[in-house]
Amino acid sequence: MDRRTFLQSAFANLGALAVGARLPSPGFGVPGKLLQGHERGKSEARPASTGTLREFTLAPEPTHLEIPSHGVFQKWLFNGQFPGPEIRAKEGDRLRITVNNKLPEGTTVHWHGIPLHNAMDGVPEITQPAILPGGSFVHEFDAAPGGTFMYHSHFGFQPDRGLVGPLIIEEKKAHIAYDREYSLTLNDFLAGAPVPLGRSKNDRGEIKEMLEPPYIALLINGRPPEAPAVFNVKSGERVRLRLINPSGATIYRFAIGGHPITVTHTDSRPVEPFQVDSLRLASGERYDVLVEAKNPGAWPIVASADNDLPPARAILRYTDSNETAPREGAMPVGLTGGRLLQLDDLRGLDVPELRKPNRTFNLVLGGGAMKPGGKMGLVGMMPPAGMMTQEWTINGQAYPNAEPLQIHQGEVVRIRLENQTAMPHPIHLHGHFYRVGNVSKDTTIVWTGSKRVELDFIANNPGAWVFHCHNLYHMEGGMMRVVRYV
Ligand code: C2O
Ligand code: CU
Repeated sequence: MDRRTFLQSAFANLGALAVGARLPSPGFGVPGKLLQGHERGKSEARPASTGTLREFTLAPEPTHLEIPSHGVFQKWLFNGQFPGPEIRAKEGDRLRITVNNKLPEGTTVHWHGIPLHNAMDGVPEITQPAILPGGSFVHEFDAAPGGTFMYHSHFGFQPDRGLVGPLIIEEKKAHIAYDREYSLTLNDFLAGAPVPLGRSKNDRGEIKEMLEPPYIALLINGRPPEAPAVFNVKSGERVRLRLINPSGATIYRFAIGGHPITVTHTDSRPVEPFQVDSLRLASGERYDVLVEAKNPGAWPIVASADNDLPPARAILRYTDSNETAPREGAMPVGLTGGRLLQLDDLRGLDVPELRKPNRTFNLVLGGGAMKPGGKMGLVGMMPPAGMMTQEWTINGQAYPNAEPLQIHQGEVVRIRLENQTAMPHPIHLHGHFYRVGNVSKDTTIVWTGSKRVELDFIANNPGAWVFHCHNLYHMEGGMMRVVRYV
């Protein structure tokens, strides 16, 4: 499509919108002032509006939740469900989502990965005031681009109370064909309320150290390994699995017994199909994969973490086979061997060609040390007296005591990251896709001791956008900045 046709259809979109106040919602989608034609990627022509308005209501509320074989827990959930209800739309629809806060404290909800208007982004203090208990907020934005996304509370540690859910935008034209699809949301599960990590003194004056959140189980679609979700397939089908990780802190390795997986999307963005045996999925990341059902039986779908918990588990079950459950203890070989996806393996299909960056930020990820009684994160939550919390930094600064990254509209911005800590950090930017290597993404793991990772993006969606590690405990411990432009 040439520039003229592009502009015409962009205006046609404006005219076709039937409902609601029009808010622009660029991603790579809308050319900024300084951009030349060749810098716009193939996906840039936004699909014409379907004219459909899809309305949803989310009520975050305290609820009892039963996890089979584990017990009943007091959680905070969207509409009493865990994960929250699936929000699904077609590319080009308009979404109107009303959040009614039934919690005893403030909240906001963020639509992770969608390059929407800044005012709709759901970050307290940055894009809107917190929704007070009993209050409401109406989010309205275009369902675009198509792909696999998620939503979650962006208020303090609330995501680890259970306030997370899947958000699917069906592509107008997918680059792959399939017979059926399932979405798999991976979660790490806390029995109690989340607290900052660090050291604390108990009543008897003993020092206790908690360096990892005390998760009790890893779940797929809210189900523990003891009572796994079952995904039915028939021989000969191609099945699309949408893998979504809104976990508080867990990086999973995902594999399926008896089947290789073909990666087709990362963070909603299409890639050339690439076959592997397993892939890693950090908090904030999504991968879509295709599975060819040509090995009848019942097979384990497994997502293991680098900890002592039993891996999350589900079942791939052929309805044309007599087997109903995988062999006891059967594990996919891909979990320990075979081909593990590397980001460099992938070729994005909508990666824009970018000019040389106008501006580069060299950022060092640091921290992990304790800070006495430190002030935590966004909402200024104070840890209990006598507590030493973990502090995580970017160039030595822990948010909120950190400078914003000031940029200008139309620039190509490069963020170069170096991880000097002992842990991996999945780094997420709101409101934009960035180019990393040969793909577009919105969340990328920066491994310990890895070479520098470069994230390039076009400043074409003005506002104040947070940029942070998607490990909730690192984010709340300070590993966050605001990227700002008008
Ligand atoms: Cu899932 Cu600030 O993001
Ligand atoms: Cu981190």
